[in-house]
Amino acid sequence: MGCRALLAFLSILSVASGLSVASERMVVQHSRPSAPAGFVSQGAAPATEIFSFRLALASNNLAGLQQKLVSVSTPGSSEFRQWLSKDEVTSYVQPSAETVAAFNTWASANSITPGATSPHGDWVSISVPVSQANTLFAAKFEVFTHPDIKSNLVRTLSVSLPSELVGHVDVIHPSTDFVRTSPRLASFPTHKGPTPPAKSCDASVDSGRITPTCLQAMYGIPSTPATQRNNTLVVTGFSNFFAEAADLSSFLKQFRPDIPSNTTFSLLSVDGGENPQGPGDGADEPNLDIQYTLGLATGVPIQFLSAGVHNATFEDFAQDALDIITFLEGAEDPPTVVSISYGSREDDFGQVFATKICDALQGLTARGVSVLVASGDQGARGATVNPNATDPCSENNFFPEFPATCPWATAVGATAGIHEKAANFSGGGFSIFFPSTRRQAVSGFLHALPKNFTGTFNKTGRAIPDVAMQGVNYEIVSNNVTESITGTSASTPAFASIIALINDRLIAAGKPVLGFLNPFIYASQSAFTDITVGHNSGLECSATTPAFDATTGWDPLTGVGTPLFDKLLAAALKA
Ligand SMILES: *[C@@H]1O[C@H](CO)[C@@H](O)[C@H](O)[C@H]1NC(C)=O
Ligand SMILES: *[C@@H]1O[C@H](CO)[C@@H](O)[C@H](O)[C@H]1NC(C)=O
Ligand SMILES: *[C@@H]1O[C@H](CO)[C@@H](O)[C@H](O)[C@H]1NC(C)=O
Ligand SMILES: *[C@@H]1O[C@H](CO)[C@@H](O)[C@H](O)[C@H]1NC(C)=O
Ligand SMILES: *[C@@H]1O[C@H](CO)[C@@H](O)[C@H](O)[C@H]1NC(C)=O
Ligand SMILES: *[C@@H]1O[C@H](CO)[C@@H](O)[C@H](O)[C@H]1NC(C)=O
Ligand SMILES: *[C@@H]1O[C@H](CO)[C@@H](O)[C@H](O)[C@H]1NC(C)=O
Ligand SMILES: *[C@@H]1O[C@H](CO)[C@@H](O)[C@H](O)[C@H]1NC(C)=O
Repeated sequence: MGCRALLAFLSILSVASGLSVASERMVVQHSRPSAPAGFVSQGAAPATEIFSFRLALASNNLAGLQQKLVSVSTPGSSEFRQWLSKDEVTSYVQPSAETVAAFNTWASANSITPGATSPHGDWVSISVPVSQANTLFAAKFEVFTHPDIKSNLVRTLSVSLPSELVGHVDVIHPSTDFVRTSPRLASFPTHKGPTPPAKSCDASVDSGRITPTCLQAMYGIPSTPATQRNNTLVVTGFSNFFAEAADLSSFLKQFRPDIPSNTTFSLLSVDGGENPQGPGDGADEPNLDIQYTLGLATGVPIQFLSAGVHNATFEDFAQDALDIITFLEGAEDPPTVVSISYGSREDDFGQVFATKICDALQGLTARGVSVLVASGDQGARGATVNPNATDPCSENNFFPEFPATCPWATAVGATAGIHEKAANFSGGGFSIFFPSTRRQAVSGFLHALPKNFTGTFNKTGRAIPDVAMQGVNYEIVSNNVTESITGTSASTPAFASIIALINDRLIAAGKPVLGFLNPFIYASQSAFTDITVGHNSGLECSATTPAFDATTGWDPLTGVGTPLFDKLLAAALKA
């Protein structure tokens, strides 16, 4: 690993000089009546500005990949954990010759020189002036602002394809995707300043602080160092949020005095992503993620993956997510665990774009990569609260967040307290894009739900979270200040660390790594503590606002529950 996201040039494509060929028929690919709440148009995007677009070319056999992945990830299967090579994944994901030909013909007819392609050949970039993009895609690109986003997004409310590309091009990015916050942090500080001595988890832990020692005690996580070097855990970083080595060192001195305080992480850079180490450069989220992976996955090599911001004033979480996943797809020797503590409202991505990112996660998990994603910190309502509504809490529309809803991700919710309850902010629910692949596991919950929940969520959608872990008052050091921080983005690196430690033991025993986790998790529910108490009405609404409740068995606050290390390790070694 260590190179840019977009690698090979598509040499098979050539440029023809000449006329733009007006297509006979344009087919609307996606349109929305208006921008999502909060986005305001500032008028047409400048016609002559050259804009870079990514086009997703249809994969030739995703159904085949899915079938193969089900087979290699299902305990008891004859090819269980025989993870695929990069080339095997490419053979399913790459576009067909027919698709490539259709794209080439269109590009040359319009005098477009394609830029780079992605590792599996399913994304290609083009750079064209806004005016040409408006014609090519029957679009009207505008500049949009949003109070939560520092800069502008160039987007269109409708995007079309010429009929000869329908079925060959799946996504045009950017177009109709509006990711509300970029990124939406799944964490928030709950306490700053001097810290009482953190010993272990005592009875006051409901309002007390969580440390690595505390998590080790609660879940039986060993402190003995990992022995395998090619079992790498990657922590993803977005949009100029940086992890600081000095803060990590201070954290280890305070909270893991048994390991050398110079233990550190390495940097992976995508698109010129940086990780400056000056005073004030750190941010809570990456510091949390780095400190609770190095602090818990003792001895596991940890990498911080920083995505470059293409334009310092132009944040684009959706594109960063795509770049990071594309980068990982290109790795010959990918990490074994990826931890993602970011997400946003599912439909802000748009179905086609979310699906394409999810397909990429499918390819990664098929190679034996476990992908952990925070389930979100907005309770049952997700990041969906309409800013214009007089009382957002009165709206019973329950939505989960993406990429946690991708069926190939393992979504991590949050608990609180030594007698664990679901955290009231723990995100979870049912996807509007992705069908459920665990009908049986969630059927108990659905059957027990009162009738008045009908219509508040999509009961056939992929149900999240899958698992949970403590998520309240994690002690961290950020910009030289010790503070505590709360969110499913604390739970996520902690759970990722458990998976990395189990992988270490599996590799040492000569066995393949855990890879795509969900079938294993749902087949190993006795390795989890079922969390049965809690109500996820969120922090912005009152405790009595309608929301989901934790219950016996799977629920949309804590999934199947919180892990018991020894039991999960035993199940992994036996499977
Ligand atoms: C919210 O209010 C703003 C300003 O009044 C308006 O431009 C926008 O369209 C409204 N959004 C929705 C979803 O109602
Ligand atoms: C950490 O410090 C010890 C001495 O205190 C030294 O032997 C070791 O090489 C250092 N490790 C790194 C990664 O710098
Ligand atoms: C970033 O984007 C803004 C808005 O489109 C533009 O004004 C600015 O020139 C861009 N900056 C760079 C460095 O490209
Ligand atoms: C519910 O989820 C399914 C996928 O299982 C999707 O096809 C459907 O459009 C969703 N329905 C709604 C109303 O969101
Ligand atoms: C961090 O804070 C401590 C006091 O809490 C201070 O002694 C030290 O100089 C600070 N370090 C940096 C790099 O600011
Ligand atoms: C370690 O990585 C190499 C590739 O770099 C791979 O061939 C080997 O199988 C890996 N070892 C284990 C035990 O997974
Ligand atoms: C959510 O839980 C926190 C911590 O237990 C508590 O302080 C807060 O009051 C709760 N909020 C609601 C609305 O229940
Ligand atoms: C359904 O009714 C129960 C019992 O009155 C109530 O607790 C719950 O909040 C209601 N759910 C919704 C979605 O209104």
